[in-house]
Amino acid sequence: MRIDGPHSGPYGKKVMTQTTSKIDAVRVSVLQARREGKRIACVPTMGALHEGHLSLIDEAKKLADYVVVTVFVNPTQFGPQEDFHKYPRPIEKDIAMCSSRDADLIFNPDVETMYPSTPGAKTFIEVPGLSEILEGAIRPGHFRGVATVVMKLFQIVMPDVACFGSKDFQQLAVIKQMVRDLNSPIQIVGCPTIRETDGLAMSSRNAYLSPEQRAVAIRLYEAMVFAKNQVTAGHSDLASIMSKMAEIITRDGAMTLDYAILANPTTLETLTQPQPEMVALVAARNGTTRLIDNMMMTPK
Ligand code: PAF
Repeated sequence: MRIDGPHSGPYGKKVMTQTTSKIDAVRVSVLQARREGKRIACVPTMGALHEGHLSLIDEAKKLADYVVVTVFVNPTQFGPQEDFHKYPRPIEKDIAMCSSRDADLIFNPDVETMYPSTPGAKTFIEVPGLSEILEGAIRPGHFRGVATVVMKLFQIVMPDVACFGSKDFQQLAVIKQMVRDLNSPIQIVGCPTIRETDGLAMSSRNAYLSPEQRAVAIRLYEAMVFAKNQVTAGHSDLASIMSKMAEIITRDGAMTLDYAILANPTTLETLTQPQPEMVALVAARNGTTRLIDNMMMTPK
């Protein structure tokens, strides 16, 4: 079984995390870890790792003894006009970052490995309802691609637990629903969004932003903080709060709004009345880059 990349060093010297592009190699390594009684965690990513991803690895290490990070830019979750081809793929940097957090194995398959061009290979996973609103309405087929690749990765890694960022709030909801619906025993853990010092949620796509676009990107956060302050102060006119959120995001025409809503955190339906738990969900286009973010809030 071939594992690419260095995997052991003498005298406790810090070594690079093992990396493989082969499904069989993942299975063998995970099986070995299981034989040693280890609990397995999976951290699915598309690479271009940042502190947000590293916090997922840290969480995975707390929850399990053997952590597999998957790095795969999944073509089936991108629309034809989206950034699949330009999505950053700094694999050497990603490996170094995983090593810095002592991840045990990186699975970095190619497209043919994940989607062999077998005639008739047409099985996809659909999570109706949740997949069709908000991001799903704007990016048709996106969550079908996400659900399918995540289940494929689960079938390969067979983890006990998998960690995802909460920044992709709807994605996390879709994955939780999929796991429930398919009776999968895998524990899905949503980890807190990691933010830059000014509040912008970390995202691999922030790298696309020009300095001017980066400066206005912060308005998503401002809009959610505004909403949270209003809601926690007891204001109950949600329509007017949502309209003010939209105004903050689109001020000076710097960004184009996709949505700015206060929603039920489970169904993601837009609320008309305050509820004990609410989530602000925002999405906007900043030049050609789409940014999404969210914030939980509780009324007074
Ligand atoms: O959140 C991501 O990076 C991706 O959507 C995921 C979950 C790794 C599936 O490709």
